[in-house]
Amino acid sequence: MLQLPPLSLYIHFPWCVAKCPYCDFNSHALNGELPEERYIDALLADLELDLPRVWGRTVHSIFMGGGTPSLFSAAAMDRLLSGVRARLPLAPGAEITLEANPGTVEHDRFEAYREAGINRVSLGIQSFNDRHLKTLGRIHSGGEAGRAVAAVKAAGFDNYNLDLMWALPGQTPAEALADLDRALDFGPPHLSHYQLTIEPNTVFAARPPVLPDEDTAGDMQEACAERLTAAGLQAYEVSAWARPGAMSRHNLNYWRFGDYLGLGAGAHGKITLPAEQRILRTRRKSHPRPYLKALDDLSFIAEEKTVEEADLVFEFFLNRLRLSEAFGLEEFAALTGLSPTRPAAALDRALALDLLSVRDERFETTAHGRRYLNDLQALFLP
Ligand SMILES: C[S@@+](CC[C@H](N)C(=O)[O-])C[C@H]1O[C@@H](n2cnc3c(N)ncnc32)[C@H](O)[C@@H]1O
Ligand code: SF4
Repeated sequence: MLQLPPLSLYIHFPWCVAKCPYCDFNSHALNGELPEERYIDALLADLELDLPRVWGRTVHSIFMGGGTPSLFSAAAMDRLLSGVRARLPLAPGAEITLEANPGTVEHDRFEAYREAGINRVSLGIQSFNDRHLKTLGRIHSGGEAGRAVAAVKAAGFDNYNLDLMWALPGQTPAEALADLDRALDFGPPHLSHYQLTIEPNTVFAARPPVLPDEDTAGDMQEACAERLTAAGLQAYEVSAWARPGAMSRHNLNYWRFGDYLGLGAGAHGKITLPAEQRILRTRRKSHPRPYLKALDDLSFIAEEKTVEEADLVFEFFLNRLRLSEAFGLEEFAALTGLSPTRPAAALDRALALDLLSVRDERFETTAHGRRYLNDLQALFLP
């Protein structure tokens, strides 16, 4: 029997000052003026249309991601969040995150964001090294990145995340560690440590930079993991490190196969409909222009489809296996509505390959499984 998981809200902001050469997110360089008012109007109208599907449910977290949501003023965020609160019940203490680019926020902005109800900031630092920042096409220097972290802390945010990337073009293990040390000096409660990947349809895919070889990257990862652990952070997901109690509730909900409404250009959503015994996936129009235009006839949705049973198995494990937290099959059954015996063959195979371990009927991804995560996930393909 399908059961309702916690519900989150993702809101996408599709503009950036400039497009970074490695980035395949739905983000577009802003040419001209930011259509701030109209975009907030569109988001609220978009939310309104989704409401009947989540009637009576409480929202546990909101994530404003991008793109660069911090291009929007605190007044715009205030109007958006007030509009959300007027339409949906928010859990007390709900986590409300804003993604910010260090190149877009002057000092006072963070205080105003906090007054608007944002209680967590995720800063896209990437590196503190000016040479690497330049290669990555970032619009800020290492000094500005540091000042942004200080401003977030000074504004009173005790819950914040720093995004760092590693295995950058021409980066040595010592440089990766130096970036990490600089970040850890701030005592962050959460740090996302992403290995740079070359994504299709990016500038880096067309003109690939020279990345550290596999051995060097392996050494880098090991040395960085040691440093992060020594600083008191724990890897609760492949790239996410947190102090105890500071895990991102929003991201945890994705990885635990929770529900989320996805508003804004190109946003994806997942909603469980227990009365109809199905899970729905939604996608909004991608490009900001048609999305904004959709405010005229309320046609924000580009695609909606029920997840097929065979895909449900894969989608559950694709997400769940990223977490270091163990899981039981009752969780699988409740969140997919399928029999708990359904993935038995794939689980047996994963155990035999030492990609998973099991204790007291709870499964956990092994160190070997984390290293070969794609192979582990592939065992659950339809
Ligand atoms: C939507 S962006 C974050 C906010 C803001 N747009 C910024 O860049 O400052 C999410 C994060 O994903 C990471 N990321 C983006 N593209 C990546 C890639 N190709 N490989 C690894 N990490 C990537 C970056 O660390 C980035 O901060
Ligand atoms: S990494 Fe961030 S700032 Fe750069 S293009 Fe992507 S979303 Fe925009």
